Amino acid sequence: MIKKCLFPAAGYGTRFLPATKSMPKEMMPVVNKPLIEYGVEEAISAGMEGMCIVTGRGKHTLMDHFDKNYELEHQIEGTNKEVLLDDIRRLIDSARYTYIRQREMKGLGHAILTGRELVGDEPFAVVLADDLCVNPEGDGVLEQMVDLYKQFRCSIVAVQEVPKSETHKYGVIAGDTIRDDLFRITDMVEKPAPGTEPSNLAIIGRYILTPDIFELIEQTEPGKGGEIQITDALMKQAEKGCVIAYKFKGKRFDCGSVEGYMEATNYCFQHMYLKDKNVELKQEVTVKEEAQTA
Ligand code: G1P
Repeated sequence: MIKKCLFPAAGYGTRFLPATKSMPKEMMPVVNKPLIEYGVEEAISAGMEGMCIVTGRGKHTLMDHFDKNYELEHQIEGTNKEVLLDDIRRLIDSARYTYIRQREMKGLGHAILTGRELVGDEPFAVVLADDLCVNPEGDGVLEQMVDLYKQFRCSIVAVQEVPKSETHKYGVIAGDTIRDDLFRITDMVEKPAPGTEPSNLAIIGRYILTPDIFELIEQTEPGKGGEIQITDALMKQAEKGCVIAYKFKGKRFDCGSVEGYMEATNYCFQHMYLKDKNVELKQEVTVKEEAQTA
């Protein structure tokens, strides 16, 4: 149904300087995995097979991460350390990874338009890797959205309630209620000035977009911050047809901020890393390594 997922990953990650001076922010580790790996896992769990990554200068480690590392594989082949590569090997084998470079940073809308070559003429998902989403109770956020797409066949954005004092950091929607957690969008503003927000429902980094969005982005003038905003293109789509906002089930961490990143790290350590079926094996490998180097 929805087979491709686009990852805009060309940004500079200035909030994490100096860590992101020569390392892409998408490669920042949350416990033992880079941020983007969580997004790719979520997309694969939702049935997607094509990971379309929009990169920029200095992002080659992203490509290396989703490829084999023969030297490393050779070194650890047959040892108990192989288990440490299980997760990433599974991701590499279960999807195709394609890349395109965004030469100029002209906003999220422009980044998505740059990915058109990779996506083609079909509905697709978008993941902003900065937003790490988990749902310990059930399906991941993208999977929930794919289910809704089957019903509504239109673009869908994930939203969450935020305090009014935070709305200026997000795209914010207003809509007619379809159900407690579903709204048909009637208004949408990118980073509204305090006091002008249409509601407290903020868009987070998960979208399903129908391919007509590309032409709408092409017709979109620069908006907030002089950038081409996906929010503005989606508003045009909502006026012409229908765009749905979905209050997803689960948790979202804003890993674009230091506080959110720390929260995500603590959460993933407690609720994911320590619950991994291989955790004892992994810790054993680490202990032995420490003993060898001591
Ligand atoms: C982008 C979008 C914004 C959305 C946010 C979610 O903003 O433009 O509408 O609410 O992602 O994380 P950014 O955080 O890239 O400035």
